[in-house]
Amino acid sequence: MTTKTEDWQSELKKYEIDPEHKAQVREKFNFRPFKEAAAPTELPKNIVGLEGLDFSKFQEGPEGLEGRKELAAQLEEAVTEHGFFKILNFGISQEIIDQILSLSQGTFDEPQEVREKFVAGEHNLPEEKDKPLGPIRGSGYKPLGHWRTNGIPDNIDIFNFRHFTHYDTFFNRTQYPEFVKANLDDIAYYFNFIHREVLRKVAILLDIILELPEGTIYRDYFSVKPEQLTNSPDGFGRFLLYHPVSEDYKKKTNDIWLSGHTDGGALTFILSQPILSLQVQDYDTKEWRYVSHTPGALVVNIADQLRQLSGGYFKSSVHRVVTAPDNQKNYHRNTAIYFSNVTPRAYLDVDELKSPKLKRLGITYDKSVERLTAAEWDDLKGEYFNNRDKNWYEKETIRGRESIGSLREEKIPAVGITTGGN
Ligand SMILES: [Fe+2]
Repeated sequence: MTTKTEDWQSELKKYEIDPEHKAQVREKFNFRPFKEAAAPTELPKNIVGLEGLDFSKFQEGPEGLEGRKELAAQLEEAVTEHGFFKILNFGISQEIIDQILSLSQGTFDEPQEVREKFVAGEHNLPEEKDKPLGPIRGSGYKPLGHWRTNGIPDNIDIFNFRHFTHYDTFFNRTQYPEFVKANLDDIAYYFNFIHREVLRKVAILLDIILELPEGTIYRDYFSVKPEQLTNSPDGFGRFLLYHPVSEDYKKKTNDIWLSGHTDGGALTFILSQPILSLQVQDYDTKEWRYVSHTPGALVVNIADQLRQLSGGYFKSSVHRVVTAPDNQKNYHRNTAIYFSNVTPRAYLDVDELKSPKLKRLGITYDKSVERLTAAEWDDLKGEYFNNRDKNWYEKETIRGRESIGSLREEKIPAVGITTGGN
């Protein structure tokens, strides 16, 4: 079995927004194409060569098995070395990608008084009232400047979308600003596609790597349970807009836009964007390397939950965002991210995966470490990200597990000048 695609698209169609209303709201909000930054004039030498998985080669069914095995071999190298890879031809057209970037831009065009009415974490669902979602994980806007780097307020706009796999909750039980509400169907389509098509295929490749029957990981850890909101994988989508920063900001933060960290969830899917700013840290040398831009690709990284679930076989990537190089410094860094989580009640315990491969490698659960569910882990990690002071940990363990919330940064050499790396 390579799993059957859930019939999510026809169900989603029932929630289509009236096109006339959508057009009116788009006009009112000056909906327009997002202007991407020009390519960097000079590429630094310390660029990481990420594995690019071409998903046009991913065919379902027995006849596609050889192709899937090849993709799995490619993926295994990436996820065991640094936890980062790209997916090319992931199934969404450039037109839809462009629309998502325009929607992200429009979401942050809302005036301050509207943004204050939809601060993330302030309108949680009754089911989530005990969950410490805060301004970083709740549905809505993170207040601009919430985080501090060396005491300097951040310049990053965030809008989170929770529960997009639960259509009634997403469309009817969650509060949104007018612009977002009028475009919810397009937003839901994008994020559902990433979860139900792209993530499902990645999970199948992970099955092959771990010598599990194809479909196992998606079924056990990622399948959507339509009637069970709190027992379904509860990741979230995010629009993200990094605003240009001043010279003063760059000096005082050592050129940090977002400090080094590992993500808390399972897998993170980011739309590739042209500003040269995302860096990944080499696990052995600790050297930072730039991730290059591939138009139309998804940049994907392994996060803490999959690291734990695989007993450390998959690496939770350490990454950060540095400020834009000179020829891109006046542009916005605009992207959409999906932070996936595994099913909240699942234990992050490698023994439960029952992987013949990991067993052969001698990877078993460390019994000296208390077992945690994905939900418990998510809440613990969320505390890092909700903390205002972004520069307070060198490295940390949470209940005996390695994780990075925010790295203290030293001076970063200017972009375009090599750091002595290759
Ligand atoms: Fe991240």
